[in-house]
Amino acid sequence: MTESQDKKVIILGVETSCDETSAAVLVDGFDLRSHIISSQIMTHQKYGGVVPEIASREHSLHIQPVVQQALAEADVGFTDLSAIAVTYGPGLVGSLLVGVSGAKAMAYAAGIPLIGINHLEGHIYANFLNHQDLEFPLLALLVSGGHTHLILFEAHGKYRVLGYTRDDAAGEALDKVARALGLGYPGGPQIQKAAQNGDKQAFKFPRAMLEPGSLDFSFSGMKSAVLNTLNSARMRGETLNVPDLAASFQQAVVDVLVHKALMAIQQTGVQTLLLAGGVAANSLLRETLEYELVQRKVRLVYPQPILCTDNGAMIAAAGYYHYRAGNFAPWTLNAVPGLNLKSI
Ligand code: KG4
Ligand code: ZN
Repeated sequence: MTESQDKKVIILGVETSCDETSAAVLVDGFDLRSHIISSQIMTHQKYGGVVPEIASREHSLHIQPVVQQALAEADVGFTDLSAIAVTYGPGLVGSLLVGVSGAKAMAYAAGIPLIGINHLEGHIYANFLNHQDLEFPLLALLVSGGHTHLILFEAHGKYRVLGYTRDDAAGEALDKVARALGLGYPGGPQIQKAAQNGDKQAFKFPRAMLEPGSLDFSFSGMKSAVLNTLNSARMRGETLNVPDLAASFQQAVVDVLVHKALMAIQQTGVQTLLLAGGVAANSLLRETLEYELVQRKVRLVYPQPILCTDNGAMIAAAGYYHYRAGNFAPWTLNAVPGLNLKSI
């Protein structure tokens, strides 16, 4: 083996696309040496959602200490790094810019390559951190606050989007319903918690399946059904049971996600389903898919909860495969808020 083949690949991953400033050091794709997440949830909670202007300012304050801590915990310096991988879209433009400019400056100063990562790709790659034996083709159900996608993942860097949401993302719908129920932000975990004490059959909410065979999603009408139920009750002077509403809506969202995932498995014949994104932390979704997929002898893979929501480790994981493919970003890399998932 030559010296360069022998050398460890050490990637610093940086994520700032929404309300988490995060950095991680990953060695050879699997060995996570450090992982720091500075969450702004407490800051945004009082506004009921992420305030973009505040988010960018918080990232500016935290990016340097978060990176320093990640390097210190991994016991590496900038010159030990093989490359710096950073999220450049999709996300909030101001937030993305902090990460992109910071990563660019650090990589340039250290004389190492810069790698631009699509945030959606990062979420999918979170699965590779805990599972080293994944074989292509893979199917990914990516469910987050901004996206709901079914993706055929044919090889590293090669994606085909089979379906996506035509309106609200699943996480967005959960967040909006949670806010209307007075459960706070972020809504997904709050709905899950409230649903534990609720009856999932108490309310009959619709399940939007769209045209026969379609792998697209639509959560806006389902969200409105809950809001309409709440408003009608308020006008009658009635108070509805919040845990019952949470359990019934959570069940409706999970039913649609599971139905479409099973359809995608049937249409493609792919034998492994990856769950990704913040909503992938939902226990009802995991348990229902687990139950359905065992019967079909299809493997279900998901990251641990901390790797489902936004984090730098998933960006480093995707960065490792870009590094191996020699896919580096130019110094002109810019933030792209509406970036689509494309193959490289
Ligand atoms: O991936 P993520 O951290 O950020 C985006 O890229 O959007 O996902 C955040 C979303 C939020 O909508 C949040 O409510 C949802 O993930 N979420 C959950 C759970 N944990 C986070 N939804 C359902 N159940 C959970 N346990
Ligand atoms: Zn995300």
